Amino acid sequence: MNKKTVRDIDVTGKKVLVRCDFNVPYNEDRVITDNRRIVAALPTIKYLIDNHAKVILCSHLGRPKGEVKPEFSLDIVAKELSKLLGQEVKLATDVVGESAKSLVANLNEGEVILLENVRFEPGEEKNDPELSKKFAELADVYVNDAFGTAHRAHSSTTGVADYLPAVSGFLIEKELTFLGNAIQNPEKPFMAIIGGKKVSDKIGPIEALIEKVDVLLIGGAMAYTFIKAMGYNVGKSFCEEDKLDLAKTIMEKAKNKGVKLLLPVDTKVGKEFDPNTESKNVKYTEIPDDWEGFDIGEETIKLYSDELRKAKTVIWMGPLGLFEFDQFAVGTNSIAKVLADLDAIKVVGGGDSAAAIEKAGLADKFTHISTGGSASLEFVEGKKLPGIEALQDN
Ligand code: 3PG
Repeated sequence: MNKKTVRDIDVTGKKVLVRCDFNVPYNEDRVITDNRRIVAALPTIKYLIDNHAKVILCSHLGRPKGEVKPEFSLDIVAKELSKLLGQEVKLATDVVGESAKSLVANLNEGEVILLENVRFEPGEEKNDPELSKKFAELADVYVNDAFGTAHRAHSSTTGVADYLPAVSGFLIEKELTFLGNAIQNPEKPFMAIIGGKKVSDKIGPIEALIEKVDVLLIGGAMAYTFIKAMGYNVGKSFCEEDKLDLAKTIMEKAKNKGVKLLLPVDTKVGKEFDPNTESKNVKYTEIPDDWEGFDIGEETIKLYSDELRKAKTVIWMGPLGLFEFDQFAVGTNSIAKVLADLDAIKVVGGGDSAAAIEKAGLADKFTHISTGGSASLEFVEGKKLPGIEALQDN
């Protein structure tokens, strides 16, 4: 990585503002249901504690759109962090106001505080320089470790870097190393599995990956857009009618580039969008009118597994079926198991595929699971991420 990290600066006794991505899922009782992003931020926070910095953490949670909304408070994150760090993390009741300033003024070396949700400030998403200056006034140094938000040019992700020495944390460094190496120096055969609902969401990464991979395997609801583009009926399956030409272009491009593009040869269809709906396996050419495709089929699982076993590098973005419903998680779980056992570089990007692998209990069998959803897609696409561009070059 060509950016400075916390290792490259002296943090002893300094007030260090760290932008994290603590945008974690939580349920109606405000219980965090997946703390991976908080755990992933710990190496940087612990390094700063061990090096006697005064640590000021900040993040967004959800989309409160510039208003103070208690349901988006970071109180749940402060509690989780206190537990994980084994030391108290006090939460300011505002972002850059009196509460934040007073907590910072009383902060000792090795202590950690958390500011309230940065998106309670109307200037945050506008990258308002006035707010950026207020963030900067709280600290001596800025560290960005919010990989999941690095594609946003907001005050706390980029603007503040105009007013403070700005370096990267260890999570951003790790994400760029693993995602970057997989794409730039893949051991061959290099294969990409692209799933999820819409072709339109993944068109950037698909186009970038077609230039690099040997095999591209398509799954998820987006497969029905390809099947329809080949002239077959997809019944009630989700299909982007306005993206049929795009699907044809992708197939054509793959052919011209000599990339083997694999599409499902069969699919598991259901009667209704219901976890217990009646379901059956059908050929991709024979999806009945009143049925909806929710997963790749048994033959496809076999075909994809056999292909993937030859891979030396795999990048996986997007689940292969409706994994939230057990009976339609078979495709995603089966492929996750094949990859878990495979001796290859296996990198997972995109929030949903990561969640599926986590749900299958196989996360520790992968080389790297990105904490970025859209950020990882934009990175793979080759776009510049403003949160990283703003940091000092090494
Ligand atoms: C994410 O969850 O993808 C990031 O935290 C960014 O959130 P946003 O899409 O609300 O900017």
